[in-house]
Amino acid sequence: MLTFLVLTLTSFTPLTHATFTAPNLVAASVSGSLSGLKYTNVGANGFYMQVVDMQPGTFPSCDVAEPCKQVRKDVSGPLAPFDEDLTFNFRGPLNLFNLAVYSPSNSSGETWKRVSSWTANQKPDNLVFMNNMGGGKSGVWTICGGNSQSYANGDFTGTVATPNEELHPGYLPPAKEINVMTATACDKDANNCDGFFRGTANEGWAGSKLLVVDYNMPSDASALPAIWSLSGQIVRSAQYGCNCRGQGTGNVCAEGDIAETLAPNSAQAISEIYSYKGATGSGNSFFARPTSGKATLMAIYDTTTDSITIQRLTQFDHSQTQLSRSVIDAYINAPAKTVPFGTTKRASVDTLFKHRRRSRHY
Ligand SMILES: *[C@@H]1O[C@H](CO)[C@@H](O)[C@H](O)[C@H]1NC(C)=O
Repeated sequence: MLTFLVLTLTSFTPLTHATFTAPNLVAASVSGSLSGLKYTNVGANGFYMQVVDMQPGTFPSCDVAEPCKQVRKDVSGPLAPFDEDLTFNFRGPLNLFNLAVYSPSNSSGETWKRVSSWTANQKPDNLVFMNNMGGGKSGVWTICGGNSQSYANGDFTGTVATPNEELHPGYLPPAKEINVMTATACDKDANNCDGFFRGTANEGWAGSKLLVVDYNMPSDASALPAIWSLSGQIVRSAQYGCNCRGQGTGNVCAEGDIAETLAPNSAQAISEIYSYKGATGSGNSFFARPTSGKATLMAIYDTTTDSITIQRLTQFDHSQTQLSRSVIDAYINAPAKTVPFGTTKRASVDTLFKHRRRSRHY
């Protein structure tokens, strides 16, 4: 009887430490075609050149000595600089079906609340679709700074005057780019946005955050579909111009490529992260590119574990208004290829420049 009891207790012990299994993971694969990818030791002490002013110049020439004024900004801490506010970016051809962003509801981090969401053909909640066509119906264009951000129109081919003025069916045509921000506009008096901003500029998502997207990347020989994240400061100055992304200095603020194709009609999408620490990524592994149907990717930027985790899911229940920390942990601890960002990697800055030659975004 005693033996029986001991055995029983022993056999039940694991339950008290049971690892909660993350819902709807695809079959585990940690090399080649990946189910998950996890960057560890992401944060670092360092600095980037923050844009603090942009001079417009006088049309028709940029007649200003220092049109892009940048000042060194020192940052540190877990996840830095990915703990700063980020925007999520998309390049077509892409079909987007659902987007949601979750973040901790308070400092305890026990519960992550859905803070932003959108379903195709419906009005978004605390999420604004933008593009880089400022100067027409919204945003600004200057001879020195080029286009600011603008509000994207319904089919993502142009601009509208007010945020989400038209419903978005979700098809992003080849080579067109959009990004999403929260619905909170930057306000000089409130001083709610870090760095310089102009035109139609909104806050991104700061601190820990989780993006989940239902999508596919249809076949197309002319363009390279991608899903990535950038420091909100980059798009608030000039995504392709004066920004803290750095152009040859290596003093990158934050870029995290979640799934980016590098060749036309490639069946593979790579991931790469960049900061002042250097660059690292999926290497010779990749995420399969879904050309039809509905695939789901989740990207978790977590200050608690100083990690960025990308997981492929079979599906995600977008009706969930919150996720518990145990669910977040289960996704973070799910099988994944682990890539330590490690110490500063000077050599990998070369990779960064190669990447820029291959891809339009920087
Ligand atoms: C944080 O939020 C959780 C869940 O909403 C709540 O139970 C907890 O008391 C809150 N903690 C603090 C420190 O506010």
